[in-house]
Amino acid sequence: MRRSVAVVSGKGGTGKSFVTCNTAIVLAGAGFKTLIVDADTTMASVEIIYGITPQKTLQDLVSGEAKPEEVLYSGPNGVLIVPSGARLKRRIRPSELDAAIASVLEVAAPDFLLIDAPAGLDAEVLTAVMMTEAHLVVCNPEITSLADAYKVKSVLSGRSRYLGAVLNKIGRIELSKFRVANLIGPILAAIPEDARVRDSINCGTPYVLKYPESMVTKQILRVAGAIAGVDLYLKKETRWPGFLRRSK
Ligand SMILES: Nc1ncnc2c1ncn2[C@@H]1O[C@H](COP(=O)(O)OP(=O)(O)O)[C@@H](O)[C@H]1O
Ligand SMILES: [Mg+2]
Repeated sequence: MRRSVAVVSGKGGTGKSFVTCNTAIVLAGAGFKTLIVDADTTMASVEIIYGITPQKTLQDLVSGEAKPEEVLYSGPNGVLIVPSGARLKRRIRPSELDAAIASVLEVAAPDFLLIDAPAGLDAEVLTAVMMTEAHLVVCNPEITSLADAYKVKSVLSGRSRYLGAVLNKIGRIELSKFRVANLIGPILAAIPEDARVRDSINCGTPYVLKYPESMVTKQILRVAGAIAGVDLYLKKETRWPGFLRRSK
């Protein structure tokens, strides 16, 4: 595996699932085998964003009712997904999450693993971060969200490498870039607020595939590039699904 990254945040609703799912599509489109594990068992949204209705999920794997290969689904551009399951059975214990992810990694052998973590600093988040080499924080450009992000970054930095922050839902009035970077830098990307994000979720076509030339997609390419350690760009002459490629 090239790199594993946990996507975390202070509060919910900052855009972790949106950023994780779309970043994974870009990485997969660039030819990297990419696996997303939805570790947010209370707010399972990866399966919704990808428009899949899974039979077996992470929860079944943890309870021994499914094998790793039965909880692996294929999404756009061949992204591999382990959905957490919308029906909440019970909270997954950290050791169970750890073992479940390890068993899936053995079967899937991805280049990149992205874990869509729950919000906050609960045990599942700490496990997700301990299991991965690096983490990134998704936050919104409000003082409260930045303060949360700073707290999360400070607590988690001792456990894995801090890649940086993704500022999401940027509006017209921005905070001082210097101030933000000082608090939670490096800033990997600044994604504008865009009503089409909700539309893309509602219509079941992931945003980067529906609006490949938008500002939001450009910023998602930056997030994917920061994870992969290469420049990623939009290859315009080819059509979906293979339109995002590595630069070299
Ligand atoms: N850049 C954006 N512009 C507009 N809406 C967004 C943007 N990013 C996320 N959203 C919306 O914000 C909500 C929360 O996003 P989600 O990815 O589910 O957050 P989280 O996983 O952190 O809880 C969703 O309704 C999503 O459509
Ligand atoms: Mg989420």
